[in-house]
Amino acid sequence: MSIKNIRLEVMQTIEKEIDGYMDKYLIPPEKIWQPTDFLPNSQKDTFFDEVHQIREESKELGYDFWVVLVGDTITEEALPTYESWLMDVEGINQHGKGVNNGWAKWIRNWTAEENRHGDVLSKYLYLSGRVNMREIEITTQHMISDGFDIGTANDPYRNFIYTSFQELATNVSHKRVGQLAKKKGNVLLGKMCNIIAGDEMRHHLAYREFVKTILNYDPSEMMLAFEDMMRKKIVMPALFLRESGTVIGSAFENFSNAAQRLGVYTTHDYIDILRKLNAYWEIDKLTGLTASAEKARDYVMRLPDRMARIADRVTIPEDITRFKWVEANGML
Ligand SMILES: [Fe+2]
Ligand SMILES: [Fe+2]
Repeated sequence: MSIKNIRLEVMQTIEKEIDGYMDKYLIPPEKIWQPTDFLPNSQKDTFFDEVHQIREESKELGYDFWVVLVGDTITEEALPTYESWLMDVEGINQHGKGVNNGWAKWIRNWTAEENRHGDVLSKYLYLSGRVNMREIEITTQHMISDGFDIGTANDPYRNFIYTSFQELATNVSHKRVGQLAKKKGNVLLGKMCNIIAGDEMRHHLAYREFVKTILNYDPSEMMLAFEDMMRKKIVMPALFLRESGTVIGSAFENFSNAAQRLGVYTTHDYIDILRKLNAYWEIDKLTGLTASAEKARDYVMRLPDRMARIADRVTIPEDITRFKWVEANGML
């Protein structure tokens, strides 16, 4: 059987269990939090007081903080790109019926949960009065219209490696932003980021389970996919950020430096995520691998230490970089 056919068969096998995965890892709309739960209620008279409080508290948050929060928000707002990307993956068919539509159902439900993240953050940014919403909106429109290439092609194995990694990375960064906000007295923003981080964790747990299951059925091919993604490096969607009037990707480096300066998401976090994935998938204990998959396993097992040695030598620029997202509103 061809590599492609085995992948399809594995996807169809997991698809039969998709309802169970949905019950375990996703939460229906009536039961899960909604953006309104964490924002001033515009139907109440207390609305203006609550908005005033947000605006006052937000004055305590520094420049890098806003850059990072804006970048994170835009990354969440580019959700249409991720959904269309995933719908196109081999074995996922939104035109199928019944059990043949299970994966599409998963993607739709995952998307529906994710959609709340950009929603709540964007509304918060708007109310805070600290950022230039028009510039942010332009970047979001660019992000979606530019599209991206994250190196997974339409291979389910590579895509699930990517999502396992990426969901944990977003968990880490939202959690840290929340902690910083809380430390500066922004209780509401702290709660907001924390609850988003909780969603990302559930999603991570689901995707890492898909990979674990695939490792049982098709260990060598999954291992090769893992190696390939790690050689390419897991690129954050933020890699494609650009400000108005600039070229694709031009905002990433300065955004990433801001995140590293704040300790929101660093190279050490990347390494830590890789270690966690290696441990959960018990990469060291896989058996029955082909010769090339054995080599792939060696590479992935050694990678965290190798990366840690390099990371120690890299220094992050200390100077804050200005962004149009945070400028021109009288803030500085
Ligand atoms: Fe998200
Ligand atoms: Fe996510």
